[in-house]
Amino acid sequence: MRFYVNVDHVATVRQARGTDEPDPVRAAVLVELAGANGITVHLREDRRHVTERDVRILMETVRTGVNLEIASEKNVLDIACEIKPMQVTLVPEKRQELTTEGGLALGEKVVRSGIGKAIDKLSSKGIRTALFIDPDEEAISISSDLGADAVELHTGEYANANSLEIADWQLARLTDAATLASENKMGVHAGHGLTYENVTPVAMIPFLEELNIGHSIISRAVLVGLDRAVKEMRTLISPARDRSLEI
Ligand code: PXP
Repeated sequence: MRFYVNVDHVATVRQARGTDEPDPVRAAVLVELAGANGITVHLREDRRHVTERDVRILMETVRTGVNLEIASEKNVLDIACEIKPMQVTLVPEKRQELTTEGGLALGEKVVRSGIGKAIDKLSSKGIRTALFIDPDEEAISISSDLGADAVELHTGEYANANSLEIADWQLARLTDAATLASENKMGVHAGHGLTYENVTPVAMIPFLEELNIGHSIISRAVLVGLDRAVKEMRTLISPARDRSLEI
């Protein structure tokens, strides 16, 4: 299981003061040293947390790999094609949202066509592409038709479930979606809203290869330090993966 840590939230604290600390670039070094397999950052159109400077320096300093989350907008696509991160995850983006609210609306023709062009552009530069989608059959089949290398399954509805029954149902949805994506020869990633309390069942989903986790790790890091926060999450993910291989 690849475990990527999203360091946007470090940049959010910096931007709250408009100063130069804490620096997500320095945080990324510690995250890697603690054992993460990659660094995820979301370069938003309004640059509300991560900036172009952050992404460019991360490209020079990260030793594992950078997973760059962007919308399929020319401005950020051009930057991605120039700096060539290991992977680009295409996400929907609304200015007013606090965080990404749902998967890409691939059922809408205009969204589908924009994403298709973005995948072609990124693939022509040799960049691996992933689409952030809801765990639905239609979204998976469209992602496959569009030529995405992977899908990142949105775990937000699972994370927000307010009863065990709903959480189990959402987990079953994620499991079915992971199987289908794998049958369609796409890599299977997942993320959003995952915490120390809810991550283990997700990490056990067969065919899942990558988890992207940010807010809960950075929140815990404020109290216990980044090194311990990353290691504690790694511990919750790795044994779960070993068990799922036995199934
Ligand atoms: N994956 C995607 C596509 C996201 O947009 C985010 C949030 O930036 C995450 C994963 C990580 O979510 P969280 O911060 O809730 O762990």
